Amino acid sequence: MAELIDGKVISKQIKDELKEKVAALKEQGTEICLAVIQVGCDPASSVYVGNKKKACAYIGIRSESYELPEETTEEELLALIDKLNSDDKVNGILVQLPVPKHINEDKIIKAISPKKDVDGFHPMSVGALSIGQPGFVSCTPAGVIQLIKRSGISIEGKECVVIGRSNIVGKPMSMLLLRENGTVTTCHSRTKNIKEVCKRADILVVAIGKPKMIDASYVKEGATVIDVGIHRDENNKLCGDVDFDSVEPIAGAITPVPGGVGPMTIAMLMNNCVESINIQ
Ligand code: GUN
Repeated sequence: MAELIDGKVISKQIKDELKEKVAALKEQGTEICLAVIQVGCDPASSVYVGNKKKACAYIGIRSESYELPEETTEEELLALIDKLNSDDKVNGILVQLPVPKHINEDKIIKAISPKKDVDGFHPMSVGALSIGQPGFVSCTPAGVIQLIKRSGISIEGKECVVIGRSNIVGKPMSMLLLRENGTVTTCHSRTKNIKEVCKRADILVVAIGKPKMIDASYVKEGATVIDVGIHRDENNKLCGDVDFDSVEPIAGAITPVPGGVGPMTIAMLMNNCVESINIQ
C-alpha cells in the first residue's frame, strides 16, 4: 500500500503560509495585485479563472479581472498587456490559455514582462530556470516539487523519470528535478523501451496526456509516482495518466486524481504572485 500524497492538504498549507506573508506585507504597506485576462468565454477557462480569483481572495491578493470578448484583436490584447506591464500597481499578469485562434499565443506570452510573468511561460523565465538564475517557474512542475519535498521524499541522487516534454510541464519538470540534484531522464512518444526506462525510476512523473496509460508494469516497487494527467474515464469519472488501482499496491507513494497535482497549480501561482515582489 502506497502512501497517498494529498495535494489538497499540501496546497492548503502553502496557501495558509502565503496568507500570513501577504498579511505581514500589507502591514508594511505593500499590496500584491494579479491581473487576470480571459479572452472569450470557454467554460473550462472560466472555471480555472474563477478558481484563481477565489485563491487570490483567500490569500489577500487583489485581483483585477479583464473579461474580453472572443472578437478581441491581437493588437487590442497586446495593448492591454502593454498597459499592465507599465502599471506599478500590478505585480503579476496572467492571460488564460488557450486564446482564440486568431491570436498568436507565442506573441502574447512574449509580450508579458518577464518581471510579471507569474505563469513562468516567457522564454526569459524558461531560460533563467535552465541556467539556475532567479525567475518565475511554471506552476504545475513547481507544485510537483513541493508535493515531493513536503512528503519528506528526497530528490538528490535519485533516478527521476519524466514522461512528457511539453513546454509547460515536462521540460520545466525535468529542469527542476535536475536543479534538486536528481538524475533525470525525459521520455516522450518516440522513446524506445519506455517501460524499461520507467522501471528504473525512484521518482516517476507522468505528464503524457493519455488516460491510465501507466500501469504497474512500468513502476519499480517502492517508487514515488506523480500523476499530472486529468481526464474523464469511460464512466465519466476523473482519472489520471496513471492507472491508480494497478500502481497503488506497488508504489511507495502516489498522488491521486483528483486531489493530487491539480490543487498545487493554483497554490504555486499564488506563490509566484507573492515572489513577484522579490523579482521586481
Ligand atoms: N490554461 C491551462 N492551464 C493554464 C495555466 O497554468 N496558465 C494559463 N495562463 N493558462 C492555462
